[in-house]
Amino acid sequence: MSNPLGTLYGLGMGPGDPELLTLKAARVLSRVDVVFAAASTKNDYSLALAIASSHLPPGAPVVRLDFPMTRDPAVLARAWRASAELALETLRQGKDAAFVTLGDPMTYSTFGYLRRELLAIEPRARVLAVPGITAPQAAAAAAGVPLAEAGESFAVVSGVAGTEAMRAVLEAVDSAAILKTYRSFPKIRGLLEDMGLAEKARFVSKLGMPGERVCEGLGQVEDKPSYFSLILVKKDKR
Ligand SMILES: C[S@@+](CC[C@H](N)C(=O)[O-])C[C@H]1O[C@@H](n2cnc3c(N)ncnc32)[C@H](O)[C@@H]1O
Repeated sequence: MSNPLGTLYGLGMGPGDPELLTLKAARVLSRVDVVFAAASTKNDYSLALAIASSHLPPGAPVVRLDFPMTRDPAVLARAWRASAELALETLRQGKDAAFVTLGDPMTYSTFGYLRRELLAIEPRARVLAVPGITAPQAAAAAAGVPLAEAGESFAVVSGVAGTEAMRAVLEAVDSAAILKTYRSFPKIRGLLEDMGLAEKARFVSKLGMPGERVCEGLGQVEDKPSYFSLILVKKDKR
């Protein structure tokens, strides 16, 4: 009889501070047979693995999965499928595996692609996510800015969404976290200035890492900030 399928866990490592790992993620890490991490998502993998490392069983194999930084749909589809096949091979041996990712596995994480592809190939596979603390949550704590209070609405905005899409969301909500700001920071700053929101915005970068920084207003921020940068915007109406 063949082995029952193992379980793939998507584990959030938190945004950078190793103490922001959940007890559940640490427990799962300590008993998996194999650990997977993305091999090319702009600096993410090494930090997620570094956070995971002290919780791993001795000798647990670490396998890098290729998620290329390209927009070519054919290249992406091939890479995601190959990564899913590789992970499935482990599960088919009856082994449990963890895919470690920064922040939360269900928020802008390559785990989403891996999960989808793996279930498309093998719908009976057990794929579970263990939530992690997201960068916006850690940024709110570092900046001392509540993300939302009382009847306020809060949005997570992608900094690569385009200026008009960002404007529409920012007009509609009371509070927002803009992630992925590194690629087009001057454009985002221009938009927030135009909307009268730049002075109150908080720029937060390298949370939980050496060089962590919180700036009030965006005037002091360089045009090409770190990949690990986000902006909190709160329209304080009181
Ligand atoms: C691909 S998203 C990953 C989000 C992550 N899965 C989460 O739940 O927070 C990467 C973006 O998250 C933000 N980010 C992640 N870690 C961060 C950190 N330690 N400090 C500041 N921003 C961070 C940055 O905006 C970065 O460009």
